[in-house]
Amino acid sequence: MSTSPWDHLLLEATLATFVGDEPYGLIADGAIALSNGHIAWVGHRSELPPDAVDRAAKVERLGGALVTPGLIDCHTHLVFGGHRAHEFDLRLNGASYEAIAHAGGGIVSTVKATRAASEDELLAQSLPRARALLADGVTTLEIKSGYGLELESERRMLRVARRIGETLGITVRTTFLGLHALPPEYKERRDAYVALVCEQMLPALAAEGLVDAVDAFCENIGFTHEETRRVFDCAKALGLPVKLHAEQLSDLDGSALVAEYDGLSADHLEYLSDTGIRAMAAKGTVAVLLPGAFYALRETKLPPIAGLREHGTAMAIATDCNPGTSPLLSLRMAAGMACTLFRLTPEEALRGITVNAARALGMHDRGTLAIGQHADLVVWRVGTPAELCYWIGGELVRAVYRAGRPVSID
Ligand code: NIG
Ligand code: FE
Repeated sequence: MSTSPWDHLLLEATLATFVGDEPYGLIADGAIALSNGHIAWVGHRSELPPDAVDRAAKVERLGGALVTPGLIDCHTHLVFGGHRAHEFDLRLNGASYEAIAHAGGGIVSTVKATRAASEDELLAQSLPRARALLADGVTTLEIKSGYGLELESERRMLRVARRIGETLGITVRTTFLGLHALPPEYKERRDAYVALVCEQMLPALAAEGLVDAVDAFCENIGFTHEETRRVFDCAKALGLPVKLHAEQLSDLDGSALVAEYDGLSADHLEYLSDTGIRAMAAKGTVAVLLPGAFYALRETKLPPIAGLREHGTAMAIATDCNPGTSPLLSLRMAAGMACTLFRLTPEEALRGITVNAARALGMHDRGTLAIGQHADLVVWRVGTPAELCYWIGGELVRAVYRAGRPVSID
């Protein structure tokens, strides 16, 4: 038996490990030891080595509090300038999301505000949103570009995303979303914009180490299959994984396209067909569900949860935090919405913001409580996993650890 010292031993924990066959991978009266930023031991108290308490530099008794892996928000657009509360108002006065986009609002209006903001201004506007997610338990966060739509502004967004991770001490994964909307200056020149994205923007930003993955908005108001394919081919040539906004407002069979490219995930999926489900299942593409956008757009078409279940497709849940369709600043709330609106069980929803969200980011070193995993965890003020989906709002986080160290959530 190894006797290497532990930095921290947590006792009297209710552990939702998301490992094994028990619901939630639950271990009542559990213990978890952290060492060098990783989980060194996890299990039931009765199985602890006899010298466990002496081995740990710090011992803490949690009195039955729930401990989960640090939450993972695998789909956000949280770096942007301004906000779109006026479009919220317009929608409540009868305009549709598509009609607002066609009239020059929507994504393009956020592009204007984002282009006008300096890097420091963008950071100052975006940081409170990331802080809100962290305060609700998020330790790994994906952030997309896509409101710059020209090289310098896309670079600024991605740099701000990296700075958010450094400032808050959490992990940020960046995604290049050059094909988010057609910039107004390319209105009659779609091909030229797609070429710019593929030939100049993506290679330059990837060379600067600013891109962990590549996404596109495949939709009638976004980009076609062929255009998406062009950017996916470039991503592939650069060795970058792809993912896709697919089947959000209509069925363009984007899910089959992203599966064909062995993509990480297809996201949104309200209009996903049986063919799409089968294509994703064949490749193990994760289904990322975004109930915040469903809610804010008052969508009525539900993603095909029964079909996804039937094919054993991993389902992740994310906030989609963005100024247009999902101004949502709580991942736990997204999980609760997935239960109430999509009828996921609390266990499915919690797997969706931990282990399956890690898969959607291609990160296999987090999202569960298991030996060797990153010591990213949340100690909650509640003792039952389902409560995380059941309470709407409230401050349920007691402490957040990232790589074994407490993170300030103030
Ligand atoms: O995920 N669908 C495209 N992108 C975002 C919306 C962005 C916006 O409206 O600003 C989404 O819903
Ligand atoms: Fe999105």
